[in-house]
Amino acid sequence: MTEVILHEPLDMHLHLRDGDMLRTVAPLSARSFSGALIMPNLVPPITDGEMLRAYRHRILEAAGENCFKPYMTLFFKPEYDFDFLAPLAEEITAIKLYPAGITTNSEGGVSGFDVETLRPALEAMSELGIPLCIHGETGGFVLDREREFVPIYEELAVAFPELSIVMEHITDAVSLEALERHPNLYATITLHHLLITLDDVVGGMLQPHLFCKPIAKRPEDRQALLHAALNAHPKVMFGSDSAPHPRHAKEAPGCAAGVFTAPVALPVLAELFARHGKLEKLQHFVSTNAREIYQIDPPVKKVRLVDTPMQVPEKYGEVVPLFAGREIGWSIADVEC
Ligand code: NCD
Ligand code: ZN
Ligand code: ZN
Repeated sequence: MTEVILHEPLDMHLHLRDGDMLRTVAPLSARSFSGALIMPNLVPPITDGEMLRAYRHRILEAAGENCFKPYMTLFFKPEYDFDFLAPLAEEITAIKLYPAGITTNSEGGVSGFDVETLRPALEAMSELGIPLCIHGETGGFVLDREREFVPIYEELAVAFPELSIVMEHITDAVSLEALERHPNLYATITLHHLLITLDDVVGGMLQPHLFCKPIAKRPEDRQALLHAALNAHPKVMFGSDSAPHPRHAKEAPGCAAGVFTAPVALPVLAELFARHGKLEKLQHFVSTNAREIYQIDPPVKKVRLVDTPMQVPEKYGEVVPLFAGREIGWSIADVEC
């Protein structure tokens, strides 16, 4: 038997939603992760301290007795300034910027990336040491959206050298190259973008449960992401982007974007890293790098994963997970906290 023990695993990009959905999905992440960066794209989005505290409370209630820390984010608005953010700085781990309309529940996001318009908010964040997370896609042709956004990342990285900027859920080899050029650029990589390419989504029968933003790209992009993750590139962190939508919203004309990976994330990562002989790098990819980049100290948790197969359920509540109904090669043996 092969096993790996992970300490304080972290998911640095997670959608937990609200209401019944929150109660279904939160325990699945809370069981195996020590903490997660919680995305603010609710309807309406999380834009002030009161909403943030109430949402944090609902998450903790839904997570139950799992010793799990939700690292909270605000939904970026250009109106944020120093006086607004300073009293919140202790309660927020990052602020998430969405280009308007680019992905699920991002209608209230930013239109146009004029540095001068964004300056007051981004200078305040630099001063307060609040990282900026970005869904970096333009409104261009779908396969080019992320690469077209790279110059915007770079412009912001240069204009705000003290601001940590996280390129969220990168899918394109070009984004990885940008990491090397700017000390204040970082990135998250999802599980599904390490596993699939566009072929898996649309190359055969259309696979709605693999449809997400940004869309999975070419084999060489996936290969580049895999190389960075397997070698635990120090500027790269695991962020599942686990994004649950009810089955009726996925298996429909106008399929919602998002892949639900939370319940299988750690076992499938362990299987992937083991297959490549890189198990010893997994701790860095799923925890150490994020702790250093975000300067966080998550609750103690020890997760033991073993190469004993498990059967993935067809559904959790109304949500269909990655590998639904299939057997995966690894499973969680026990969790201590
Ligand atoms: C996410 C969601 O459903 O909230 N969907 C997705 O395809 N990734 C939003 C996001 O992270 O862009
Ligand atoms: Zn996104
Ligand atoms: Zn997301």
